[in-house]
Amino acid sequence: MTPLLCHDVFKRRSGTAVLDAVSLAVAPGARVALLGHNGAGKSTLIKAVLGLTGIDGGTIAVCGDAPGSGPARRAVAYLPEAVAFQGALTGREVLALFAGLAGERRADLGALLDRVGLAAAADRRIATYSKGMRQRLGLAQVLLGRPRLALLDEPTSGLDPVSRHDLYAIIDDLAAAGTAVLIASHALTELEARTDRIAILRQGRMVADDTLDALARAAGLPIVLRVRAAETGAADRIAAETGGARINGTSIEIRCAAEGKMRALHRLSGLGPAVADIDIAPPGLEDLYRHFSGGMS
Ligand SMILES: Nc1ncnc2c1ncn2[C@@H]1O[C@H](COP(=O)(O)OP(=O)(O)O)[C@@H](O)[C@H]1O
Ligand SMILES: [Mg+2]
Repeated sequence: MTPLLCHDVFKRRSGTAVLDAVSLAVAPGARVALLGHNGAGKSTLIKAVLGLTGIDGGTIAVCGDAPGSGPARRAVAYLPEAVAFQGALTGREVLALFAGLAGERRADLGALLDRVGLAAAADRRIATYSKGMRQRLGLAQVLLGRPRLALLDEPTSGLDPVSRHDLYAIIDDLAAAGTAVLIASHALTELEARTDRIAILRQGRMVADDTLDALARAAGLPIVLRVRAAETGAADRIAAETGGARINGTSIEIRCAAEGKMRALHRLSGLGPAVADIDIAPPGLEDLYRHFSGGMS
């Protein structure tokens, strides 16, 4: 049973479509990034999957069940955009509470707190936790129920780079255990290598849904060759011969389609010692995101 199937989902808010014909499927063990600018509809889609907000058209099925139904709720774990916990309780107490609710009374809370890097802070009041530590506690709660589907809304916000690294390691573990993971984010760096598929929402419409490679091919974005000339005089000649653009003293940038890369490299090698160095930059997620989502993030 597919953990998440959204078909032609439509939702209106104050007369405007905030979700417009959105279809999305997440298979067991898949890690899907749901990208889009602020206001694109990511959180709304997640809340609709949880059954926290209704939809005006289309269908959503969580392991075949309706959002918000008993079986669907048992199958899903959710890390909200703003994690709010009772500040007077300790991390361990909160987790014990959630374990009770999830029917996981025998869960090894110590191991779980250790897994998210909170072992040392487990018995401190949450009021003393940083934003990143609250985020980690939220993640421990996600891991607790061994969900079929995990919905993480902006999980990296407020995390330092090391914590992000840990977060992605945990996401990989979840996926390896068969959980379907949907990660909503408007922060792109480091998602690149960590997800199997990228879905991009733009003003409520799904404008892309594929692997990074396939999206790069579909977008036809140029590859950039950065060339360093051996000396200033050679830079003009290299630019003229290759159709590149001078960036500064000895740097030239050549933009070409993927198919044109080898031709450009042959031309450069024909220039012999005039070329001191070459750097090849394929389009990254940032470029793709800009292409599909329209404008800067
Ligand atoms: N509770 C709400 N009431 C009315 N409009 C809302 C509410 N929550 C979100 N919106 C609107 O719905 C649209 C999508 O928002 P949201 O799903 O939060 O986007 P994202 O999570 O991608 O930033 C935005 O235009 C936002 O202003
Ligand atoms: Mg949001």
